[in-house]
Amino acid sequence: MTRLRTIGTAELREQELEAVRRMVVGAFGGRFDEHDWEHALGGVHVMAVEDGEVVAHGAVVPRVLVAGGRELRTGYVEGVATRGDRQGRGLATLVMAEAGRVIGRGYELGALADGTGIPGFYQRLGWEIWQGPTFVAGPGGPERTAEEDGSVLVLRTAASGELDLAGSLICDWRAGDVW
Ligand SMILES: CC(C)(COP(=O)(O)OP(=O)(O)OC[C@H]1O[C@@H](n2cnc3c(N)ncnc32)[C@H](O)[C@@H]1OP(=O)(O)O)[C@@H](O)C(=O)NCCC(=O)NCCS
Repeated sequence: MTRLRTIGTAELREQELEAVRRMVVGAFGGRFDEHDWEHALGGVHVMAVEDGEVVAHGAVVPRVLVAGGRELRTGYVEGVATRGDRQGRGLATLVMAEAGRVIGRGYELGALADGTGIPGFYQRLGWEIWQGPTFVAGPGGPERTAEEDGSVLVLRTAASGELDLAGSLICDWRAGDVW
Protein backbone atom coordinates (compact mmCIF):
# COMPACT_ATOMS: atom_id res chain seq x y z
CA MET A 1 0.00 0.00 0.00
CA THR A 2 1.22 3.49 -0.84
CA ARG A 3 0.79 6.17 1.81
CA LEU A 4 1.35 9.91 1.30
CA ARG A 5 3.18 11.78 4.03
CA THR A 6 3.71 15.54 4.12
CA ILE A 7 6.05 16.85 6.78
CA GLY A 8 8.35 19.83 7.40
CA THR A 9 12.13 19.41 7.17
CA ALA A 10 12.47 20.44 10.83
CA GLU A 11 10.03 17.75 11.96
CA LEU A 12 11.86 14.88 10.26
CA ARG A 13 14.27 12.86 12.33
CA GLU A 14 17.87 12.87 11.12
CA GLN A 15 17.73 9.26 9.89
CA GLU A 16 14.44 9.92 8.09
CA LEU A 17 15.90 12.92 6.29
CA GLU A 18 18.99 10.92 5.40
CA ALA A 19 16.80 8.16 3.94
CA VAL A 20 15.04 10.75 1.77
CA ARG A 21 18.39 12.17 0.63
CA ARG A 22 19.72 8.73 -0.28
CA MET A 23 16.63 7.85 -2.29
CA VAL A 24 16.65 11.17 -4.18
CA VAL A 25 20.39 11.05 -4.91
CA GLY A 26 20.03 7.46 -6.11
CA ALA A 27 17.09 8.28 -8.38
CA PHE A 28 18.98 11.16 -9.98
CA GLY A 29 21.95 8.88 -10.63
CA GLY A 30 24.72 11.41 -9.97
CA ARG A 31 22.85 14.47 -11.30
CA PHE A 32 22.13 15.79 -7.80
CA ASP A 33 24.79 17.67 -5.84
CA GLU A 34 24.98 19.09 -2.30
CA HIS A 35 23.46 22.40 -3.40
CA ASP A 36 20.55 20.59 -4.99
CA TRP A 37 19.89 18.83 -1.68
CA GLU A 38 20.16 22.07 0.29
CA HIS A 39 17.60 23.58 -2.06
CA ALA A 40 15.13 20.88 -1.04
CA LEU A 41 15.35 21.76 2.66
CA GLY A 42 13.41 24.24 4.76
CA GLY A 43 9.89 23.67 3.52
CA VAL A 44 7.79 20.53 3.39
CA HIS A 45 8.58 17.12 1.97
CA VAL A 46 5.79 15.30 0.20
CA MET A 47 6.62 11.61 0.23
CA ALA A 48 5.10 8.40 -1.04
CA VAL A 49 5.86 5.68 1.48
CA GLU A 50 5.62 1.93 0.89
CA ASP A 51 6.46 -0.65 3.57
CA GLY A 52 7.98 2.11 5.70
CA GLU A 53 10.32 3.25 2.91
CA VAL A 54 10.24 6.50 0.98
CA VAL A 55 9.76 5.59 -2.67
CA ALA A 56 8.93 9.00 -4.14
CA HIS A 57 9.54 12.57 -3.03
CA GLY A 58 9.05 16.21 -3.87
CA ALA A 59 9.85 19.20 -1.66
CA VAL A 60 7.99 22.51 -1.61
CA VAL A 61 10.24 25.29 -0.31
CA PRO A 62 9.45 28.98 0.12
CA ARG A 63 11.03 31.47 -2.28
CA VAL A 64 10.18 34.91 -3.60
CA LEU A 65 9.71 35.29 -7.35
CA VAL A 66 9.01 38.58 -9.08
CA ALA A 67 6.62 38.31 -12.01
CA GLY A 68 5.89 41.41 -14.06
CA GLY A 69 7.19 43.56 -11.19
CA ARG A 70 5.05 41.83 -8.54
CA GLU A 71 6.66 39.90 -5.66
CA LEU A 72 4.97 36.55 -5.27
CA ARG A 73 5.31 34.24 -2.28
CA THR A 74 6.25 31.10 -4.15
CA GLY A 75 6.22 27.42 -3.32
CA TYR A 76 9.23 26.16 -5.27
CA VAL A 77 9.39 22.44 -6.02
CA GLU A 78 12.71 20.63 -5.61
CA GLY A 79 14.03 17.09 -5.47
CA VAL A 80 11.25 15.37 -7.40
CA ALA A 81 12.29 11.74 -7.63
CA THR A 82 10.97 8.19 -7.59
CA ARG A 83 13.12 5.25 -6.59
CA GLY A 84 14.35 3.43 -9.68
CA ASP A 85 12.45 0.19 -9.04
CA ARG A 86 9.19 2.07 -8.47
CA GLN A 87 9.20 4.38 -11.48
CA GLY A 88 6.41 4.35 -14.02
CA ARG A 89 3.66 3.57 -11.50
CA GLY A 90 2.25 7.05 -10.99
CA LEU A 91 4.11 7.77 -7.75
CA ALA A 92 5.64 11.09 -8.83
CA THR A 93 2.23 12.06 -10.16
CA LEU A 94 0.74 11.32 -6.74
CA VAL A 95 3.46 13.35 -5.01
CA MET A 96 3.13 16.28 -7.42
CA ALA A 97 -0.66 16.37 -7.06
CA GLU A 98 -0.21 16.75 -3.30
CA ALA A 99 2.61 19.29 -3.77
CA GLY A 100 0.15 21.27 -5.90
CA ARG A 101 -2.36 21.24 -3.05
CA VAL A 102 0.33 22.40 -0.60
CA ILE A 103 1.16 25.28 -2.96
CA GLY A 104 -2.52 26.15 -3.44
CA ARG A 105 -3.08 26.38 0.30
CA GLY A 106 -0.04 28.41 1.26
CA TYR A 107 1.43 30.30 -1.68
CA GLU A 108 0.67 32.86 -4.37
CA LEU A 109 2.48 30.84 -7.04
CA GLY A 110 4.15 27.50 -7.63
CA ALA A 111 7.36 27.23 -9.64
CA LEU A 112 10.02 24.69 -10.62
CA ALA A 113 12.75 24.02 -13.13
CA ASP A 114 11.79 21.02 -15.22
CA GLY A 115 14.63 18.56 -15.45
CA THR A 116 12.60 15.44 -16.16
CA GLY A 117 13.19 15.39 -19.90
CA ILE A 118 9.67 13.96 -20.12
CA PRO A 119 7.49 16.19 -22.33
CA GLY A 120 4.30 17.28 -20.58
CA PHE A 121 5.12 15.58 -17.28
CA TYR A 122 4.19 18.60 -15.14
CA GLN A 123 1.78 20.17 -17.63
CA ARG A 124 -0.62 17.25 -17.10
CA LEU A 125 -0.93 18.50 -13.54
CA GLY A 126 -1.73 22.09 -14.43
CA TRP A 127 1.79 23.51 -14.63
CA GLU A 128 2.52 26.00 -17.41
CA ILE A 129 5.80 26.90 -19.10
CA TRP A 130 6.93 30.44 -18.35
CA GLN A 131 7.19 31.97 -21.82
CA GLY A 132 9.08 35.15 -21.04
CA PRO A 133 12.71 35.82 -20.13
CA THR A 134 14.04 34.55 -16.78
CA PHE A 135 16.40 36.37 -14.44
CA VAL A 136 18.01 35.98 -11.04
CA ALA A 137 18.14 38.85 -8.57
CA GLY A 138 21.90 39.44 -8.47
CA PRO A 139 23.68 41.75 -6.05
CA GLY A 140 23.80 44.44 -8.73
CA GLY A 141 20.27 43.90 -10.06
CA PRO A 142 18.51 41.29 -12.22
CA GLU A 143 20.82 39.04 -14.26
CA ARG A 144 19.56 37.05 -17.23
CA THR A 145 19.39 33.28 -16.93
CA ALA A 146 18.74 32.69 -20.62
CA GLU A 147 19.79 29.03 -20.44
CA GLU A 148 16.77 28.39 -18.19
CA ASP A 149 14.22 30.05 -20.48
CA GLY A 150 11.56 27.53 -21.43
CA SER A 151 12.34 25.11 -18.61
CA VAL A 152 10.80 27.10 -15.77
CA LEU A 153 7.23 26.10 -15.06
CA VAL A 154 4.66 27.82 -12.88
CA LEU A 155 1.48 26.73 -11.16
CA ARG A 156 -1.18 29.36 -10.64
CA THR A 157 -3.07 29.48 -7.38
CA ALA A 158 -6.23 31.37 -6.37
CA ALA A 159 -3.89 34.07 -5.01
CA SER A 160 -1.77 34.46 -8.18
CA GLY A 161 -3.78 37.32 -9.64
CA GLU A 162 -3.15 38.37 -13.24
CA LEU A 163 -0.03 36.67 -14.60
CA ASP A 164 1.57 37.52 -17.92
CA LEU A 165 3.53 34.38 -18.79
CA ALA A 166 5.32 36.30 -21.55
CA GLY A 167 6.68 38.85 -19.09
CA SER A 168 9.85 38.67 -17.04
CA LEU A 169 10.31 36.28 -14.12
CA ILE A 170 12.99 36.89 -11.50
CA CYS A 171 14.01 34.44 -8.79
CA ASP A 172 15.83 35.20 -5.56
CA TRP A 173 19.56 34.47 -5.33
CA ARG A 174 20.96 31.21 -3.93
CA ALA A 175 24.13 29.14 -4.18
CA GLY A 176 24.18 26.40 -6.83
CA ASP A 177 21.58 26.38 -9.58
CA VAL A 178 19.48 29.48 -9.03
CA TRP A 179 16.46 27.96 -10.76
C1 LIG B 1 10.83 11.93 -13.40
C2 LIG B 1 10.41 10.90 -12.34
C3 LIG B 1 10.31 11.63 -11.01
C4 LIG B 1 9.05 10.34 -12.74
O1 LIG B 1 8.63 9.51 -11.67
P1 LIG B 1 7.54 8.34 -11.86
O2 LIG B 1 7.03 8.02 -10.49
O3 LIG B 1 8.11 7.27 -12.67
O4 LIG B 1 6.43 9.14 -12.70
P2 LIG B 1 4.93 8.65 -12.97
O5 LIG B 1 4.86 7.18 -12.89
O6 LIG B 1 4.04 9.45 -12.11
O7 LIG B 1 4.78 9.08 -14.49
C5 LIG B 1 3.90 10.03 -14.92
C6 LIG B 1 3.94 10.15 -16.42
O8 LIG B 1 5.19 10.57 -16.86
C7 LIG B 1 5.53 9.88 -18.06
N1 LIG B 1 6.76 9.15 -17.80
C8 LIG B 1 7.26 8.76 -16.59
N2 LIG B 1 8.48 8.18 -16.77
C9 LIG B 1 8.74 8.22 -18.09
C10 LIG B 1 9.84 7.83 -18.89
N3 LIG B 1 10.93 7.26 -18.36
N4 LIG B 1 9.76 8.04 -20.22
C11 LIG B 1 8.69 8.62 -20.79
N5 LIG B 1 7.61 9.02 -20.07
C12 LIG B 1 7.64 8.84 -18.76
C13 LIG B 1 4.41 9.01 -18.43
O9 LIG B 1 3.61 9.72 -19.34
C14 LIG B 1 3.66 8.85 -17.14
O10 LIG B 1 2.29 8.76 -17.37
P3 LIG B 1 1.57 7.32 -17.57
O11 LIG B 1 1.83 6.58 -16.29
O12 LIG B 1 0.17 7.73 -17.75
O13 LIG B 1 2.24 6.72 -18.74
C15 LIG B 1 11.42 9.72 -12.25
O14 LIG B 1 11.65 9.23 -13.54
C16 LIG B 1 12.75 10.10 -11.61
O15 LIG B 1 12.93 9.98 -10.40
N6 LIG B 1 13.71 10.52 -12.46
C17 LIG B 1 15.04 10.90 -11.96
C18 LIG B 1 15.02 12.22 -11.22
C19 LIG B 1 14.46 13.37 -12.04
O16 LIG B 1 14.82 13.57 -13.19
N7 LIG B 1 13.56 14.18 -11.42
C20 LIG B 1 12.92 15.31 -12.06
C21 LIG B 1 13.45 16.58 -11.56
S1 LIG B 1 12.58 17.99 -12.26
